[in-house]
Amino acid sequence: MSRPETIPVAELNETQAQAELARLAEEIARHDAHYYRHDKPVIADAEYDALRLRNAAIEARFAHLQRADSPSLRIGGPVLEGFEKITHTRPMLSLNNAFTAVDVTDFCASARAFLKLAADAPFAFTAEPKIDGVSATLRYEDGKFISGATRGDGLVGENITNNLRTLRDIPLRLIGADVPDIIDIRGEVYISHEDFAELNRRQAAEGKPVFMNPRNAAAGSLRQLDPSITAQRPLRFFAYAWGEISVFPADTQMGMIEKFKAWGLPINPEMRLCHTVEDMLAVYVRLQESRAMLGYDIDGVVYKADRLDLQERLGFRARSPRWAIAHKFPAELAQTVIDAIDIQVGRTGTLTPVAKLRPVTVGGVVVSNATLHNEDEIRRKDVRIGDTVIVRRAGDVIPQIVEVLLERRDENSAPYVFNTICPACGAQAVRETDAKTGKEDAAWRCPNRSGCPAQVVERLRHFVSRDAFDIEGLGEKQIQFLFDQGLIRDFADIFTLRARNDALPKKLHEYEGWGETSCANLFRAIEARREIDLERFIYALGIRHVGQNNARLLARHYHLFTELRSAIRNAKDKESAAWRDLLAIDGIGETLALAVVGYFSDDRIMTAIDALLDYIEVREFIAPASASPVAGKTVVFTGSLEKMSRDEAKARAQGLGAKVAGSVSAKTDYVIAGTDAGSKLKKARELGVSILSEEEWLALTGA
Ligand code: IVH
Repeated sequence: MSRPETIPVAELNETQAQAELARLAEEIARHDAHYYRHDKPVIADAEYDALRLRNAAIEARFAHLQRADSPSLRIGGPVLEGFEKITHTRPMLSLNNAFTAVDVTDFCASARAFLKLAADAPFAFTAEPKIDGVSATLRYEDGKFISGATRGDGLVGENITNNLRTLRDIPLRLIGADVPDIIDIRGEVYISHEDFAELNRRQAAEGKPVFMNPRNAAAGSLRQLDPSITAQRPLRFFAYAWGEISVFPADTQMGMIEKFKAWGLPINPEMRLCHTVEDMLAVYVRLQESRAMLGYDIDGVVYKADRLDLQERLGFRARSPRWAIAHKFPAELAQTVIDAIDIQVGRTGTLTPVAKLRPVTVGGVVVSNATLHNEDEIRRKDVRIGDTVIVRRAGDVIPQIVEVLLERRDENSAPYVFNTICPACGAQAVRETDAKTGKEDAAWRCPNRSGCPAQVVERLRHFVSRDAFDIEGLGEKQIQFLFDQGLIRDFADIFTLRARNDALPKKLHEYEGWGETSCANLFRAIEARREIDLERFIYALGIRHVGQNNARLLARHYHLFTELRSAIRNAKDKESAAWRDLLAIDGIGETLALAVVGYFSDDRIMTAIDALLDYIEVREFIAPASASPVAGKTVVFTGSLEKMSRDEAKARAQGLGAKVAGSVSAKTDYVIAGTDAGSKLKKARELGVSILSEEEWLALTGA
C-alpha cells in the first residue's frame, strides 16, 4: 500500500485522512518552530505552503476531523460579538516593584527573613527582562493548545483563543514526553520595534490611525473580534510563568523555563541565574545598557526565587507573590508647560491639584495631566501656572512634575493660590489631623461626603470598577452621563436602571453614544452582578484607606455583611468590645479603624446601602481550606518561633483559613507561644485561652 502522504486528497479514506492531519499538524508545527524561533527554515517556502494547502484541502473534505491544533486555525476563527469570560484556574497576579538597588536588597533580605534563611545560606534568583507587552495565559491539555485568555482583573480574563492561535510563536501543540497533561503557560505578547515601525507604515499608507507604541498595538491587536485582523499583526510571545499544572517537570524556575523551551515555547534568551544580589544587579545594569539593542520594549528586570519549594513557602500577598519582584528602569522625562491647574475631587473628598500640561510625548505616550499631590507640594516646588517643567512617567503611574525650570519662568508669574472651596459642591474644605500622630493631613478634604456630586460620582465609578462590582460598559463617561441625567444617584440606582428605563419617555438607547446593543449589554452586565463576594463588596464601598487587602481582612474577620455592619456601628463607642475587636484584627490600625467607623456612621450612606441590599446579595465569606482544624479559628502568635519566621507562620495560618489577630482576647482560640513570649502569653493564661507550643501548632496544622 502507498504511504498516506503520497495519496491525493480526493482519494483518502477517513482513517487515512485522520492520520494525515495528525502528521501535517506535527510537521507544520516543526517547521514553524524552525522558521520563527530559530530563524532557520529547513524547507523551501513552496514546500511549506504545499503542506498547509494539503492540510486545508483535507479539512475541506473531512471538516469533522479538524484538530484542535490544526495549522489552518492560525488564520483565524469566526468573528465574535464580544469576548467570553474565562476564570483563571490560578489567579494571574501582578508583581511588586523595586526602583532602587536598596529595594532589591531589601526584597532579598525580607524573603530570607520570611524563610528564616541565614544571611550566607545559598538562595538563588533568576533575572530576566520585564517585557512591556500584554500578558496572556495559554491552556494546554494533553499537549494541545485549547484556550487562551487575557489577564483581565487577574481572576477572570477574556477568551481570546482564536486570536492567540494566529501567533506563530504560540505552538498549537507542545512536544515532549514530559509535557504535563494540563498546563497553563503564562507569558507576554509583544511586538518588536522593527515590526512596529512596519505596522505603522502600513497603517498610515492605508489611511488608518497609527499606534502610540508597541504595547498599545499589541493590546489592540489581541482584542480584535475578528481573528483574521489579529493574524495580520506581527505579534510575538515569550513564555515566563505558569498557572495550573498537573505535574512539575522540574523543581526550579530555571528548570521549568528550560522545559518550556524544549517543548517548543519561545523563551527569553536573556534570562540568567543569580547567586547573589550583586549578580542580580549586574543583570539589571547590563540589560539597561543593552535595552535599545534588544529589539523589543522592556521596562525592567524581574527576579524570581529559583527553587520552587521556596516559591511555595514564600507564597502570595493579596495580589503579588512574595517570591518575585520587578526592578523597574528609571522613568522617562520630558519638558512641557503648565497651562492650568485644576482641582479634582476624589471619592473620599480629597482635593487633588492637577497640572494641565501642553501635551507632550513621554516614553511613547502622550501626557497632558500631571498630579501635583497637594497644596504643600505645590508650595514646596513653587509650581506656577505658565511654568516650564520637567515631567516624568513611570509605567502606568500618573505622570509627575520633577522640577520647575526657573530660568524659563515668566517674570509676571505669581505664586499659585490654593482654593480651599470644593469646586464641585462649594463646601469649605478642611485639613484633618491624624488621630495617632497629631499631625495635620497634607490634603484638603471636602467634608460633604454624601452631598458632594463629585464624591458621589467618584464613589459610583469606584463601585463599578474592575476590582469592585466589575460592571462592564459602565465606565467613567457613562457614570457621569447617567449621574448628570439624574438616572443614577446612588448605588441602588444601578440595579433599578433597567426597570426605570423601561418606564421613561426617552429611553437610554435613544441618547447619543448609547445604542441598543450597548444598552442591552450594559443591562446584562448589571444583571450578572447581583451577587457579590463580601470582600469585593467591602472594597466597592470606597471607604477611605480600605483597599483590596484591608477589605479582605475585614471580610475574613466578620464573614457576613450584616455582622460587619453591626459590629462597626457598635465600634463607634471607643470603650466597646466591638472597637477593641476591630483593632485586634492583625493589619488593621487605628487610622483605618476610624475611617471604617466614620463611614458606617454616615446615615445617608447607610440608607443608600440599605436600599442597595434590596437588590443584591452579598455572599458570606467562606475561608479557604476549611478542612483544616484551624479554619475559622482566631490565633495569636507571640514570642519567637524556631522553625519558621513569624510572617511565614501567619501566612500559613491564613492560608489554612485561620484569622490571625494581633492581641489576645476572649475570642482568641489559640495562642502559639514561641520562646521569650511575654504579656500575650500571660493574658492568654488569665483568660484561659488554649496555649500551643510551636511543635504542637505544627502538628495541628500538619506541617
Ligand atoms: S512573572 C506571579 N515575568 O509584568 C508572577 N511577568 O507586573 C507572574 N511581565 O502581569 C509574572 N515580563 O504581564 C513575569 N518576565 C516576566 C515578565 C512579566 C513582563 C508582566 C506580566 C505581569 C506584570 C507584573
